[in-house]
Amino acid sequence: MTALRNVELKARDPEPERTLHAALAAGAQDQGVLHQRDTYFAAREGRLKLREERAGDAAPHAQLIAYARPDQATARTSAYHLVDVPDPAALTAALDASLGTVVVVDKTRRLLLRDNVRIHLDAVDGLGSWVELEAVAPPESDLAAEHAEVAALRATLGMSDDRVVATGYAALLLEAGAATPRLVDLARGAMQRAYAPYSHFNVGVALRDEAGGLHAGANVENGAYPQGQCAEASAIGALIAAGGSAIREVAVMADTELIVPCGGCRQRLAEFAGPQTPVHLCGPEGVRRTVALAQLLPLAFDLAEATA
Ligand code: THU
Repeated sequence: MTALRNVELKARDPEPERTLHAALAAGAQDQGVLHQRDTYFAAREGRLKLREERAGDAAPHAQLIAYARPDQATARTSAYHLVDVPDPAALTAALDASLGTVVVVDKTRRLLLRDNVRIHLDAVDGLGSWVELEAVAPPESDLAAEHAEVAALRATLGMSDDRVVATGYAALLLEAGAATPRLVDLARGAMQRAYAPYSHFNVGVALRDEAGGLHAGANVENGAYPQGQCAEASAIGALIAAGGSAIREVAVMADTELIVPCGGCRQRLAEFAGPQTPVHLCGPEGVRRTVALAQLLPLAFDLAEATA
């Protein structure tokens, strides 16, 4: 089966009532309110979510949605596959066990239709109000008509550049710290299992990769002392072996006043993380302080820059 396609645009909406009136005035048909719960799994290719939907008294309905969409703050094309799911609880358990759950997004969606454009007025738990446009494309379309429809409606609804976002709700929730408690739990487990019979100083590290996958590592010492390995190096190895390629969030944990990664491990993290990547410095009870990697490693060596 070929994938379905649509052109879509997402923006913050400080005035949802006003947007609703503008959409109705533009001829959009109100389809009522839906409650949607999207569970995102750590897919390696594209994105994968299970959507459970309730509308009024109708029976709940679930679909698995696999899609690929670039992150850009303009109207963008999404190619997707939809699969009806008769047993969402069982599928959630299976996908959680095999891929891992990235984040759960709960929202109330008011759906309006104008020609073949869906207008979503979303109230998202933890993220506030949003408006989203989705022009569904027939298979033969070159998408020009869909882009034109989205552009026209965008102007009508006042979706200005400063409100448009490049990412989706899942990424926004992760940036806001939705995965941090699970990252801290993983770092704690790794710390407890560390092999540190010489220093007696256990360290655990957990990393979130670009697909939302979580990986952990512990320090592993050696009777030939220089052969010992820091927890950061172990966690990076786990991320790479699992197919990850970038670090989006770090938790480092030890039972000391404030654990900070050693100098060498700051460089190791910088190979896969960006200057703004958050690094949570944790004690056994949780996060004590969060810093950006650039605070730990200013003027970082970057081979690409050095040889440009
Ligand atoms: N250690 C880490 O695992 N990560 C750090 O960032 C600091 C130090 C480990 C290495 C060694 O096993 C023990 O802590 C004492 O230095």
